[in-house]
Amino acid sequence: MEKIVALNHKMNMDYDELQDYIDDLKKINLNPIVFPTAIHAPYFVEDHFRTGLQNIYFQDNGAFTGETSPKQAKKLGIEYVLVGHSERRELFSESNEEINKKIKLALENDLKVILCVGEKNNEDYQTVIKRQIKEGLQNITKPVIIAYEPVWAIGSGVIPSNEHIKTVITYIQSLLNYDVKVLYGGSVNSITIQKINEVNVVSGYLIGGSSTSIQELKKIKEVVS
Ligand code: 13P
Repeated sequence: MEKIVALNHKMNMDYDELQDYIDDLKKINLNPIVFPTAIHAPYFVEDHFRTGLQNIYFQDNGAFTGETSPKQAKKLGIEYVLVGHSERRELFSESNEEINKKIKLALENDLKVILCVGEKNNEDYQTVIKRQIKEGLQNITKPVIIAYEPVWAIGSGVIPSNEHIKTVITYIQSLLNYDVKVLYGGSVNSITIQKINEVNVVSGYLIGGSSTSIQELKKIKEVVS
């Protein structure tokens, strides 16, 4: 099955860089799901990329300065949302309860959700991930995609062993009663992906740092196709 390649730009690239990036991305035929900085999203939608937002709010509209609703996103042609990224959990103190509300409203608005989970360096993965999934998906029956991103692997250049990735993904699958797709994220680049791609339970990748480099994406395309 074709691997999902999701590109999390985080808060990177400016308008000028974006023009060349989009032209080049079109040429490499990667068929990614792109999660650009929110103000860049319309450019990807216009160019027919599968486009997502990196974050979403849990109200349809109202006095919530700085937030974007699932309803607004849907109207714009956004198809996906990332919810519960570790940077949101850490830097913006997002709780599992808030994450749950965001996922519910996103699904009600027919957006596809990628829920990010993962343990920190000193944490037991089972305890953390079980909680993130049980609380994050409480009273939710529609399937979501999960992205397993060990926090210590994000931006560090260090990746878990294939064994660890397989064990954790199998654990995640055991917590959910549908055929869940699980992406791996954390220091995925054109080199590390060669080894990770041997793990057959990985449905795809959520790529941060390398996602803005066309050179990297060209090589990644060769590995996943
Ligand atoms: P890096 O690929 O830069 O480690 O980031 C991973 C990530 O956070 C993707 O959501």
